[in-house]
Amino acid sequence: MKPVILITGATRGIGFAAAKQLGARGAQIIIASRDGARAAEAAARVGDGACGVALDITDQASVDAAVKQIEEQFGRLDVLVNNSAILLDHYQSLLELQPEVLLETLNTNVVGTLRVSQAFALLLAKSKAPRIVNVSSGAGQIDGEPQSWAPAYCISKTALNMLTQQLTAALPDVIVNSMCPGWCRTDMGGSDAPRTPDEGAETLTWLALGAPHDLRSKFVKDLGVIPW
Ligand SMILES: NC(=O)c1ccc[n+]([C@@H]2O[C@H](COP(=O)([O-])OP(=O)(O)OC[C@H]3O[C@@H](n4cnc5c(N)ncnc54)[C@H](OP(=O)(O)O)[C@@H]3O)[C@@H](O)[C@H]2O)c1
Repeated sequence: MKPVILITGATRGIGFAAAKQLGARGAQIIIASRDGARAAEAAARVGDGACGVALDITDQASVDAAVKQIEEQFGRLDVLVNNSAILLDHYQSLLELQPEVLLETLNTNVVGTLRVSQAFALLLAKSKAPRIVNVSSGAGQIDGEPQSWAPAYCISKTALNMLTQQLTAALPDVIVNSMCPGWCRTDMGGSDAPRTPDEGAETLTWLALGAPHDLRSKFVKDLGVIPW
């Protein structure tokens, strides 16, 4: 039976690269986008029976409709990839950061990820080997020197990593991990980044399908565990 994998924000960038990799490994891919037509178009580019779903992770009604569609189509979900995120404050200093920008960033990157994880928990419970992969960032690590780049985004990714730990505790039958793709050439990463989206998606693909079952509640980059 093909593993059923939902990837949020997967019409482009790292999410789309992961969709291609996972589809090529025999998974049933569901590409999510706020724009259902773009999701369907991206699914057609992935091929192998991939399909699209409209999903805005900041909108509960949209998330509930996506759950209903996937329940009717597949009856379960094996892997949820929380890939959607926004980066609004690249080079803004913390002292000039508008609180609204922090709220919007947290609302998508953290609250949206929680909303989607809560909503799909029942479908994940119908899987024999359920997994959640949260696409985080080294920008959220708190073990290094203090940094000033993109404060709202960094704070959101630190919170996402804690959400990974909380989800592990709340969903003991689900393998939940966070991963960092590295700096990649996407709309978010820009053209100077050293990695391709495909390279960035490799660890995601591994966590979604191949990583050992005892690897859980970890932060992973380049197939290895890194500090939170
Ligand atoms: N690129 C990098 O260098 C880098 C480095 C570290 C971590 N990351 C992480 O990797 C992931 C993918 O990044 P990327 O570089 O591929 O970014 P991207 O090209 O900007 O793609 C981000 C995706 O997020 C989706 N999205 C945004 N708001 C959404 C919402 N409210 N509901 C649903 N989807 C929403 C967008 O989908 P639609 O517009 O189709 O809805 C878009 O496809 C993100 O979590 C990012 O933080 C990226």
